[in-house]
Amino acid sequence: MFYKNLKLMIFGIVFSTNFFIVNSKESELNLITPSCSVEKIQNNLTIFQGCGPRIGDSAPNFRADTTEGLINFPEDFAGKWIILLSHPSDFTPVCTTEFKKLAEINSELKKSICQLVGLSVDSTFTHKIWQNKLNAESSRKVDFPIISDPKGKIARLYGMIHPNESKIQTVRSTFFIDPKLKIRAIFHYPSSNGRNFDEIKRLLYALQISEKDNVATPANWNPGDKTISMEGVTKDVMPD
Ligand code: BEZ
Repeated sequence: MFYKNLKLMIFGIVFSTNFFIVNSKESELNLITPSCSVEKIQNNLTIFQGCGPRIGDSAPNFRADTTEGLINFPEDFAGKWIILLSHPSDFTPVCTTEFKKLAEINSELKKSICQLVGLSVDSTFTHKIWQNKLNAESSRKVDFPIISDPKGKIARLYGMIHPNESKIQTVRSTFFIDPKLKIRAIFHYPSSNGRNFDEIKRLLYALQISEKDNVATPANWNPGDKTISMEGVTKDVMPD
């Protein structure tokens, strides 16, 4: 009975989430996917979580319920820059400060043809109550969709669940996606520390100028500062 249930559980996990099951030695796995979390469930059977997309990949697509209705991500936002941000939980103190900052910067982001999309494992109902509370407390409104991902499927697809931080809630992940729907930058922060939204704006403008003028931007670059020409620079050169 126990083994039958275990088999059913494994079957359910594989087909309802973005997990891969691999019959392999952990050392071999680590060679291929050094940054993936590995979770052993039997002697020779290992489950590891998808690491999520990497820079240059097409943004994985999914359909999701949000505070603004159903969306097909990322296709619905093609032609805009997209910033997809996960947060651990609605109503918590750090997340509240983050969403108040997002509400503050959103009009500037919209002028730069940039779409914000939030995500957590909370329900749309909870998101809406929290959104109403935030909007009542501030003159700047939270006026971008927040995805509800109660089973964490999208979170696993994007590598937003870091099991040693929380097995259920997302960390503070940020994905920059370009108008052609390619991933251009990724960063993850732990639950305990809020993101710097001035840096998020700065990186958006840096990515946009790199795309427009084929330039790179030096350390601490800010709009108006000198850029670095990328003419003749190839990224796939073997070192000597
Ligand atoms: C917060 O947003 O305050 C928070 C959320 C999850 C864990 C720790 C802090």
